[in-house]
Amino acid sequence: MSDQGYFGQYGGSFIPEILYSSQQELLKHYREAMADPSFIAKVKQEMQQYSGRPTPLTFCANLTEQMGGAQIYLKREDLNHSGAHKMNNVIGQGLLTKRMGKKRVIAETGAGQHGVATALISARLGLECTIYMGAHDIERQYPNVFWMKQLGATVIPVTTGSQTLTDALDEALRDWTSSYEDTHYLIGTSCGCEPFPEMVAGFQSVIGEEVKEQAMAQFGAMPDKIYACVGGGSNACGIMLPFVGTETELIGIEAGGRGDGIGEHAMRFNNDQAKFGISQGYATKFIQDDQGQLAPTHSISAGLDYVGVSPILADLADRGLVRMTSANDEEVIAALKTMIRAEGIIPALESSHAIAGGLREAAELDSSQRIVINISGRGDKDIFTIAKALDDQPFNDFLRSYLAQGK
Ligand SMILES: Cc1ncc(COP(=O)(O)O)c(C=O)c1O
Repeated sequence: MSDQGYFGQYGGSFIPEILYSSQQELLKHYREAMADPSFIAKVKQEMQQYSGRPTPLTFCANLTEQMGGAQIYLKREDLNHSGAHKMNNVIGQGLLTKRMGKKRVIAETGAGQHGVATALISARLGLECTIYMGAHDIERQYPNVFWMKQLGATVIPVTTGSQTLTDALDEALRDWTSSYEDTHYLIGTSCGCEPFPEMVAGFQSVIGEEVKEQAMAQFGAMPDKIYACVGGGSNACGIMLPFVGTETELIGIEAGGRGDGIGEHAMRFNNDQAKFGISQGYATKFIQDDQGQLAPTHSISAGLDYVGVSPILADLADRGLVRMTSANDEEVIAALKTMIRAEGIIPALESSHAIAGGLREAAELDSSQRIVINISGRGDKDIFTIAKALDDQPFNDFLRSYLAQGK
């Protein structure tokens, strides 16, 4: 990385003039905080005592036998407080907000996990909280919206564009241009202008650091392969960065959605529709239409349908240090069902992409090899989408009768 926040040709800071001093202030505070052992100790303490870290590395005996190949382990970010890896980042940025003396945070959210995590840390640290969320995502992740509001956050529906994460990010940036004096933009993934990609990836790197220690303690070696789903890229950066340049192969799994056409997927790699571009404050691979406009996206999971991707991952992929692949909506539902039945673990739809990618390859590997799949979050939030995808009639009947009774 250069000192302007570049990762190869990606990253940088492409922000309106009005945000420049605020971004510089954030950069200064972030650098100072990371050099302050008491700040690092406080982050670590909150991760342990509030979020429940370290999360386990779980061996899956049944899945391993079923697949008949590599030994399968899961990194259990679903067991964080709030049910996802998003907690790691909000603890770091929440404490930084307090350190900067700001009173309010704003955030964008797709699946709602980052929104809930931000609302939780705001309640704990006494910060005012506003969450921007696409109207389409509000519909499919309503339980998370309910909890954000109970936690005291203001949830603002975004009705522009495809009404999903990309549009929510635009609105949050718009808010920041007029509120930066007392507000920190607590971005939820490793995207955006300097120092956000590095900062979010840094707070998430606790995932990979733990995997290193746990792998050594549990099987005396490093994993052969690590799989993580890729939305904006924070859980993937978190588990992968500590392994970059080692023997462990790193594999990112994107949302293959329901087809190859524009608007049917969210693949920023291995795909002609994704090209170098500058938007939302930084340079990366963005899915674009013929006119170079940001294209609509689709994924069965609300957290993976982002149009851009972490500049850190774009660069690592260009340099051949991370391999990118994808899983489509159908494969994702099949992987989720397999995981639930084989191991009694209910993963988020986002994480089920990593499972689909991991299981697909596990069968081809030798039984002496070990793979780790990052379970970025738990699936409770997805109950409505999963019940619909599985066509679960009794659940749909229950919902109808519950509503009819006016309960
Ligand atoms: C459980 C879960 N996993 C993964 C993601 C994707 O985000 P990222 O790529 O930043 O990890 C999300 C985003 O909302 C999520 O909620």
